[in-house]
Amino acid sequence: MGAIGEYSEINIENFLSMQGELPFAVYIRLSDNKFTKIFHQGDIPDRSRFQTYAEKGVKELFIHKLERREYIAATERLVKKILATQPLTDEIAKTAVEELTEQTLFEIYEDRIFDEHSVRRAQTIVKAYVDTLKANPKSLASFLNLSRNETYPCRHGIATAVFSILLARAADNENDKTLNVVGLGGLLHDVGMSLIPKDIDDVNRKLTREEWAKVKQHPQLGVGMIQDMKGFPEEVKLIIAQHHERWDGSGYPLGLKGPAIFYPARIVAIADSFSALTTRRGGRALYNPEDALAMLTTEQGKFDSQLLKVFCGIFSKRSQAA
Ligand SMILES: [Fe+2]
Ligand SMILES: [Fe+2]
Repeated sequence: MGAIGEYSEINIENFLSMQGELPFAVYIRLSDNKFTKIFHQGDIPDRSRFQTYAEKGVKELFIHKLERREYIAATERLVKKILATQPLTDEIAKTAVEELTEQTLFEIYEDRIFDEHSVRRAQTIVKAYVDTLKANPKSLASFLNLSRNETYPCRHGIATAVFSILLARAADNENDKTLNVVGLGGLLHDVGMSLIPKDIDDVNRKLTREEWAKVKQHPQLGVGMIQDMKGFPEEVKLIIAQHHERWDGSGYPLGLKGPAIFYPARIVAIADSFSALTTRRGGRALYNPEDALAMLTTEQGKFDSQLLKVFCGIFSKRSQAA
């Protein structure tokens, strides 16, 4: 699954829902490292043509990673078109939003490409999340289940966005702007990690003191990446800068304390910590939500206690409802 060398798996239903000429080619895998093109640039996605391959046992489709940009752009057009006409609870809409999210985050953290287009797509994704929450509060959590290019940074970004939106809403922030701000901050909070060498971000070994120092630069590195982007929301910049600041002053990079930390950054800090504990990573065992909440509560001096209480409340409400 996922990425195989130069090729990346795509969602078949998402691809077949696209209309018009393809701005990218589509491949099937013949053997471990051998791929062959079955749809060319300029072709029209054709369900019956795909069906002939499916009958021969083809279950996966791929793009070349150099054409990921084009594939993402076509997916974004599809998302916008669907969202204009159909409810987000619709399965095709959900699949398209999921695919847009996975591919956008994969491009940032694996291809290491980040620019204004990435930000605009992230905004489209978060808007879809917020609309989903409003249409059906329970369905937002379903975005946590990924299927394809499921690397840790993708899963972690999505989970942090979803939990940030849920927490902001539960803390009575009803207006769309705040929900969009914490969602975008959640999705992009670790963007600076994409500038850190990949071998450092390996959970299976202990980091040296120098490597830790490097990792701790990721909030400022993230701010540097968005500094010159016109129109990048100031609030989201503050979230990226402050998501590792802690209520008791023990955080970094500035050691800000209490209410000096930007309120939306306090929301994302809780969502981020919870997501880091509960998101599957390499071979590391998962914490279940209860254990993760217990850990955050033990460290409660580090977080805004009011917000942490609200966050725990989301889960107890859920277990009562189950
Ligand atoms: Fe971080
Ligand atoms: Fe994070």
